[in-house]
Amino acid sequence: MTLATTFLFFAIHSACIGAGNSSEKFVKVECKEEYHGVYGQQSLLQCNVKAVQNVTISTVTWKRVEVDTLLLEYHEDTFNLIPGFKFAEPSWNKNNTNVSLLLTNTKMADKGVYECMVRTDRGDDIATTSLSVKAMYLTPTMSSIPETNIKENTDVTIFCNSTGGQQIGLIWWFDQFGSNRTRSAELVAKETDDGLFSLSSRFKVLKATSSSTNYTCKVLNVNGAEEGMASFVIQFAVRELGSEAARLDSVSTTNWLAPVVVIGSLIIGLLIALLLFRKRSAQRARRQSTFPLMSDHQTDTRHDRDVETEGLNCDSPQNQHSSL
Ligand SMILES: *[C@@H]1O[C@H](CO)[C@@H](O)[C@H](O)[C@H]1NC(C)=O
Ligand SMILES: *[C@@H]1O[C@H](CO)[C@@H](O)[C@H](O)[C@H]1NC(C)=O
Ligand SMILES: *[C@@H]1O[C@H](CO)[C@@H](O)[C@H](O)[C@H]1NC(C)=O
Ligand SMILES: *[C@@H]1O[C@H](CO)[C@@H](O)[C@H](O)[C@H]1NC(C)=O
Ligand SMILES: *[C@@H]1O[C@H](CO)[C@@H](O)[C@H](O)[C@H]1NC(C)=O
Ligand SMILES: *[C@@H]1O[C@H](CO)[C@@H](O)[C@H](O)[C@H]1NC(C)=O
Repeated sequence: MTLATTFLFFAIHSACIGAGNSSEKFVKVECKEEYHGVYGQQSLLQCNVKAVQNVTISTVTWKRVEVDTLLLEYHEDTFNLIPGFKFAEPSWNKNNTNVSLLLTNTKMADKGVYECMVRTDRGDDIATTSLSVKAMYLTPTMSSIPETNIKENTDVTIFCNSTGGQQIGLIWWFDQFGSNRTRSAELVAKETDDGLFSLSSRFKVLKATSSSTNYTCKVLNVNGAEEGMASFVIQFAVRELGSEAARLDSVSTTNWLAPVVVIGSLIIGLLIALLLFRKRSAQRARRQSTFPLMSDHQTDTRHDRDVETEGLNCDSPQNQHSSL
């Protein structure tokens, strides 16, 4: 009886395999054998369904062979995805034969063999591909203490952090003039959960001034190859710079305004003086014609003194004298 059951089992099993083999003639899943991913970046595992005719896909599953976990599943219009894994095609649907898998943030633990199974209205197929993961330091992130509103001539600490190295690396610092400032920095390396290393370098700028604000850090691996670089600009207090600019602006305004006001009032003064002078000389001419026979000089001198005491124009009495 046991033998009969076993036989039956094998018979059904081989029948299934036979059916599978025959359908492979119509549908085939094709993947490249091997992919190389980088820690912290996206990895694309490309697989395509090849078929003689147009097919409609009913099921797609992606899993890691070693751990047998389902990473992505499409079945009868429903999607079942694990965070970090998705179809590479942004709006994949059942007519799309590009069933490639995208790992959005590759981890060291993601390396291994992947299996893609596709079921269509014309048959099924399974294919495998493998992913290797290389670790590199990621583009560093930078920050400062204090963060913003930094005053001139105060000390600023700048951080340059990077993770993902397979061995302890180095961080070098440069200022905006390209000078190597690494000697003012202090490096701390730590091992992270996934067996990789994180680096944090502290760079102290003593009495920071706004004439030198841009600092660059470079991350190197244990072999001295550059793996990442970032720049940071010290955020000096904007308010003070703004009011300084406003002050400079008002100064420059008064700079040009002052001469204009002075010259303008001078011109107006001269015009008034000229008007008054002409009026006076007209009056005087009238008076002289009124007393043409008088030889009394007193009238004249008294009149001159009057003009002088009025002080409108010092030249006018003399002019009048000479004209007499
Ligand atoms: C397959 O699909 C494409 C696009 O949907 C269509 O243009 C083509 O005619 C179809 N071919 C067959 C054999 O159905
Ligand atoms: C499959 O889709 C991905 C993502 O859109 C694309 O990068 C890749 O080239 C496609 N593969 C093929 C064979 O079209
Ligand atoms: C798939 O293709 C068929 C026939 O070409 C079409 O009727 C259907 O709307 C398509 N489905 C999607 C989701 O694009
Ligand atoms: C870098 O690391 C230091 C020390 O661990 C931390 O204080 C700082 O906030 C980090 N900066 C960034 C940008 O991650
Ligand atoms: C920068 O300075 C560090 C420490 O002083 C030194 O090890 C490194 O070789 C220098 N790098 C360059 C590019 O000069
Ligand atoms: C800072 O310096 C780096 C390297 O010289 C340069 O690439 C970057 O554009 C500079 N950043 C700013 C805001 O000036």
